[in-house]
Amino acid sequence: MILKIHYYGDPLLRRKAQEVKNFDRELKRLVEDMFETMENNEGVGLAAPQVGVSQRVLVIDLKRISGERLVMINPKLQLSGSKESLSEGCLSIPGISGEVVRPVHVRVEGFDADGKKVELEAEGMLARVLQHEVDHLDGIFFVDRMNPVRRALINRKLKRLEKDNISGKLNSEKMKKAEGLF
Ligand code: CO
Repeated sequence: MILKIHYYGDPLLRRKAQEVKNFDRELKRLVEDMFETMENNEGVGLAAPQVGVSQRVLVIDLKRISGERLVMINPKLQLSGSKESLSEGCLSIPGISGEVVRPVHVRVEGFDADGKKVELEAEGMLARVLQHEVDHLDGIFFVDRMNPVRRALINRKLKRLEKDNISGKLNSEKMKKAEGLF
């Protein structure tokens, strides 16, 4: 089932999401729906708060990398290495993208939908998407990490999004015009 994307300005996206305790059928359904929703919106990553569920669940589309789907529940990140600046976009902030500086290398551990432990190390795009999605679980948007000068340039657009509180009102056609969405 394709779920509604929640947008910047929705207070749920500013909340710290809850740890998952029950690895049950409901969780598996959520994960399936999140993959379907992400693919429908041509995203490469999606966190549960973005579909209105305040739980520590994220999905990432690795199709372009290894043909796999990655799900991480209750993820813990360790950041290391040098930092680099890359452009990010977000399904919850339509029409806005911007450069964000983040560490190049991450180690992540968490669980899959069956409650099995998952550990991996990542660099480049995957490391970037993981950090962006884990931020969503802590109520943080990529725009919060932009340098203040760049941030000032998009502030008016952000304020408008916040004011309009558009959650549930945007259709996916409009979404597809943006790029590199997670
Ligand atoms: Co995002």
